[in-house]
Amino acid sequence: MFKTDTDHIDQRVSTGALPDLDETLGLLREVHERYRGLDDGAVADYIPALAKVDPSLFGISACSVDGHVADVGDARHEFAIESASKAFVFALVTDALGHDAIKKRIGVNNTGLPFNSVMAIELNHGSAMNPLVNAGAISATALMPGKTPDEQWHHLLAGLSAFAGRELTLDTEVYESEMATNQRNLALARLLQSYGNFENDPTEMVDVYTRQCSLRVTAHDLAVMGATLADGGVNPVTGAHVVSPRVCRDTLAVIATSGMYERSGEWMFEIGIPAKSGVGGGIVAVAPGKGAVGTFSPPLDVAGNSVRGQYAIGHLSRSLGLNVFASAAREGMA
Ligand code: DON
Repeated sequence: MFKTDTDHIDQRVSTGALPDLDETLGLLREVHERYRGLDDGAVADYIPALAKVDPSLFGISACSVDGHVADVGDARHEFAIESASKAFVFALVTDALGHDAIKKRIGVNNTGLPFNSVMAIELNHGSAMNPLVNAGAISATALMPGKTPDEQWHHLLAGLSAFAGRELTLDTEVYESEMATNQRNLALARLLQSYGNFENDPTEMVDVYTRQCSLRVTAHDLAVMGATLADGGVNPVTGAHVVSPRVCRDTLAVIATSGMYERSGEWMFEIGIPAKSGVGGGIVAVAPGKGAVGTFSPPLDVAGNSVRGQYAIGHLSRSLGLNVFASAAREGMA
């Protein structure tokens, strides 16, 4: 069970701004130094290309809503975005289809089960129930606007690139490796289809979904992407309007309740920041109105969440004031 080691760190409150860039950089360096030697967890090996990633890589980045970015360690090292993409694809389809339609067609509750669970679909009468587990994420991808899978892919790629503020590219090695081994995702989409809950062609949509998961990002990109959700949908570095403020609220609500899968309750209890992980080793954590942190470290816990990333964000939750539940007693009332 994940437990933070941060009780000795003063908790900053959730309101206000991030500390200035120099202070933020100093805090990031401290956290990087503190956890870089931690060697718990294991790199994902169910996707063969991911098993080859160097487990010692470790990068942390923080981006404020005024567009300042602090990077430490391997914050500019590219890796596969994997499930962290699901949060941003959910934002794009919610922007396109609307709040009520997405709630009805996918659902927004936590399944309480692992990200690739077949049981979750069976227990929920053929519904994926959540856009951040694989079944719901493939359904979200299938809802991307476009008349053909190719058009949907280009819409998705443009949207994720706008979140990052740069043109993202595909890691073809990860894509091919994942395509050769993703029979389970195909089975999930077909199971949804058997219940009448998947309108597109499962093979085509699993292909687009697998491309989305194989996009290369850095911890820096994740911080900018997260800060866009923290900033009412405006990328704080480029100034581009990517999604509406309402969509940011919807997306943050979903990642708060299920971004760390079946560990999401524990994560909110310990750390208190909406966050989304990916088996490529990335985590993006978003403090609404303040900014976001992106981390990259490949070794994962059994739920598929980066171990060093969780510790780093747990520490920064306190020192940068990211915990959305943290308030202080009023003067004279403590
Ligand atoms: O579909 C999969 O299994 C991967 N492309 C993504 C899974 C993932 O990242 C789960 N995250 N923690």
